[in-house]
Amino acid sequence: MTRYDAHQEVEVSFVLNGKKVRGRCTPRVHLADFLRHKIHATGTHVGCEHGVCGACTVLVNGAAARSCLLYAVQVDGAEVTTIEGLKPDDAEFSPLQTAFHEHFALQCGFCTPGILMSATDFIRNTPNPTAEQVREMLSGHLCRCTGYEPIVRAILAAARSSAS
Ligand code: FES
Ligand code: FES
Repeated sequence: MTRYDAHQEVEVSFVLNGKKVRGRCTPRVHLADFLRHKIHATGTHVGCEHGVCGACTVLVNGAAARSCLLYAVQVDGAEVTTIEGLKPDDAEFSPLQTAFHEHFALQCGFCTPGILMSATDFIRNTPNPTAEQVREMLSGHLCRCTGYEPIVRAILAAARSSAS
């Protein structure tokens, strides 16, 4: 296991949304802060900073993860996807983002990047979800605006369109 000096900056590099990025930080900097303050990828939001609200969710090697609970050094060499990398290059939005737009599944949008990242992983692993399964997945995310129902409808619609 690598041993770090808490006060000594180290180099961190990983693939972010298909492009190699690198930066220096102390080992105690969490991934969300590294993304926002070192890489200036500010689409990932930070709410509670202790793993509860889900706002900071990103994909690490394809799996949803709380970037406030990961140190940046833990993703050295990994593939990280954030909201900035969700849409295909040749489209304005991903199908999931389009479904959120069409179903009015966001208001202030603070929770939205994290929910979209979790939902991306969820639909990949649960191609034909029930509303109950979507609600269970959403139990890891706090949204103060929408009442969740439009979000459930949007995720179900996106899952249906990617299955067809
Ligand atoms: S900021 Fe990471 S879960 Fe709330
Ligand atoms: S849309 Fe405002 S917190 Fe979810």
